[in-house]
Amino acid sequence: MFHLLRERMSWRRQPRVPEPDLVMESVAQTFSFSHAGEEGGVLAFLYLYNALQISSVLQPGDRVLDLACGPANQLMQIARLNPDMRFVGLDASPAMLQCAQSTLERAHVSNVELVQGDMTRLAALEDGSMDCVICTMSLHHLPDQATLCTTLREMRRVLKPQGRFYLVDFGRLKLLSTQRFFANDLRQSAQFTEDYFNSLRAAFSVEELSAAVVPLGPQLQRHVTLLAPFIVVFRSAFQRPIDPQTLQRVKDAFAKLSATQQDNFRGVVSWFRISGYALPCDMD
Ligand SMILES: C[S@@+](CC[C@H](N)C(=O)[O-])C[C@H]1O[C@@H](n2cnc3c(N)ncnc32)[C@H](O)[C@@H]1O
Repeated sequence: MFHLLRERMSWRRQPRVPEPDLVMESVAQTFSFSHAGEEGGVLAFLYLYNALQISSVLQPGDRVLDLACGPANQLMQIARLNPDMRFVGLDASPAMLQCAQSTLERAHVSNVELVQGDMTRLAALEDGSMDCVICTMSLHHLPDQATLCTTLREMRRVLKPQGRFYLVDFGRLKLLSTQRFFANDLRQSAQFTEDYFNSLRAAFSVEELSAAVVPLGPQLQRHVTLLAPFIVVFRSAFQRPIDPQTLQRVKDAFAKLSATQQDNFRGVVSWFRISGYALPCDMD
């Protein structure tokens, strides 16, 4: 709380420092990120939270594009919660895609196709070919604001006119001390902590993200964690009620989280809820 209040009151602002490795190709980096997102990993709570929220912008029969899917820990969970939809996971890194293939095979998830590609130029995808585009924790890997805007225009191009979207990423924190605090919070390997810190430094500000998402149209909603923009969501206003089968799958996944991960899940739910962003269903 101390860090959040200090962050809130500060009028100094850290400049953006782009990621040293935009496309994640090193074996150590790929392994450590993938490990953190696995079912017992430190990011599992956030992936379950995102998967539930993202499910509420999807509809049965959808074709969904995940931009920069990485090792597909997040995508696998969304695809498993929504077996009646087809997903395309795109990433520029062959090492990440190899990891993604293993993730999907281990989980016996078969409704995902993986493609190598650049999210800033979706040349292989036709105009209006997607019902929904999602992008999780990846926009901060873009080199600059101009490329961010190009990527958002590409996203709009491949979406159907009434297509839906869900984007979630870190927002840039104002203070280096808050960035360090969050980077160290998840107690993980030195490699993960360094990558996490780099991600927080590379995050776009809420204002930069808000300016870039304008092509997605006026129907979008923006949600930001209270006091500090640690996580920022831009999503379609559309909200599908979560059906009982999907809810049961979410509850089963929640039950498999460790006690600490369950607490972290409740923490992120509360942090968003007090900023006005509720879960699409009751988890009790
Ligand atoms: C931090 S990971 C996030 C992965 C995944 N979305 C998740 O939530 O776990 C960022 C990913 O973006 C990918 N990436 C970076 N620049 C890219 C680009 N221009 N096109 C496609 N993928 C890119 C990296 O290779 C990496 O896999």
